[in-house]
Amino acid sequence: MTDIRFPDGFLWGAATSAYQVEGSPLADGAGVSNWHRFSHTPRMTHNGDTGDVACDHYRRWADDVALMADLGLRAYRFSISWSRVFPEGTGRVNRAGLDFYERLVDALLERGIAPNATLYHWDLPAALDDRGGWLNPDVAGWFTDYATTVFRALDDRVPMWSTLNEPWVVMHAGYMVGEHAPGHRSTWEAPRVSHNLLRAHAAAVRAYRSIGRNRIGLVVNLEPKYAASDRPEDVAAQARAEAYMNRHYLDPALLGRYPDELREIFGEAWPAHADAEAADLREPIDWLGINYYTRSVTRDDPSDLPVREGRVRQDRHTHTEMGWEVHPPALTDVLVWVRERYGDVPLYITENGAAFYDPPVARGGEVDDPLRVAYYRDHLRAAHEAIRRGVDLRGYFAWSLLDNFEWSAGFAKRFGLVHVDLETQTRTPKRSARFYGDVIRTHGAALGSADG
Ligand code: BGC
Repeated sequence: MTDIRFPDGFLWGAATSAYQVEGSPLADGAGVSNWHRFSHTPRMTHNGDTGDVACDHYRRWADDVALMADLGLRAYRFSISWSRVFPEGTGRVNRAGLDFYERLVDALLERGIAPNATLYHWDLPAALDDRGGWLNPDVAGWFTDYATTVFRALDDRVPMWSTLNEPWVVMHAGYMVGEHAPGHRSTWEAPRVSHNLLRAHAAAVRAYRSIGRNRIGLVVNLEPKYAASDRPEDVAAQARAEAYMNRHYLDPALLGRYPDELREIFGEAWPAHADAEAADLREPIDWLGINYYTRSVTRDDPSDLPVREGRVRQDRHTHTEMGWEVHPPALTDVLVWVRERYGDVPLYITENGAAFYDPPVARGGEVDDPLRVAYYRDHLRAAHEAIRRGVDLRGYFAWSLLDNFEWSAGFAKRFGLVHVDLETQTRTPKRSARFYGDVIRTHGAALGSADG
């Protein structure tokens, strides 16, 4: 029996994003974001919840950094709010907005916690939304100007950058099904948004190459797709589902072409110029971030447009509060798949975690969350298995450091390692936080033996 041991230098962290934790959305001259607008629109979020206060991290950042150090974290993935830095999206820089991130980064470094900064985690300046948002081809230039300003301010202290978080969710939830800002529902808009996201990503990476000194990457959410049967219809549905979600951004960004299935999925709505320009979307990156939560067993479903696939619920397995199946082996599979399809770009799991019902904070400050502990244990073991199979996995970020604003689900779903009392803002580490700290301290030995 050999204990699990992650490689030396493996980066252990936790993640959050600006709109989900910061609160004070209009403080110090910040502009309105699309999420501020969306969450303040009736019926768009559970319970009408907004990010107005969230975890009040904009004011409590120093305590939160101290908390990260107490938990033993070595890295922190956070995002920068575009509308704090450029209140109108372009043009005038709001120095006070940048100052917030400078203070945060300095505090992290003082505690030996490596900053990992995401430039875009879904909060677009509302002024840019008024100009078409991700539908306007100019967005690639707006994004690059914003990115360049942030690189100039912080690249001397931020060793790891990513351009976009989960472009698939921006396209699908924001422009296809309308569950996220800006709340559009259009099969015509969706592929144009994807293309502009990819153009913005590539342009920002190019800009980074001329001024940056560290490492820049992209973060995608991958949900491995398994055909429900070997019927040809289900196998074809699996390929469509995989193309729509898992190859949609990685193929253009890393291989310079769109998957063929996208033309079939979008039909007439597919923009011809996207294919003509696909080669320009390829731009070498230094690392790739993968957000993994669940898998999907998929079958042909002609009624479910445009992908024509449906999820087959796996009733025998545990599901999280989000309704997502818990299936750790798919994490190993997806990491191996990425290596096989895209080659040896260094990988990081940039999000993994679970929302479960948590009991109230008990006397003595205990939050017992056995399902979340099991989720982390089994997924970290699956991550280690991928390393054993030769995947160049360099780090892991738990989602999330804090219970926070879960987008259209508001505060109803709790993903935190740390419980947040939304009335008092008291932070209470859950048992999963202590468990994760033990894993970090022991380089994985707290996960048990590698042989089962
Ligand atoms: C996002 C997070 C979100 C998490 C859980 C990811 O899609 O990047 O912002 O909170 O999943 O839904």
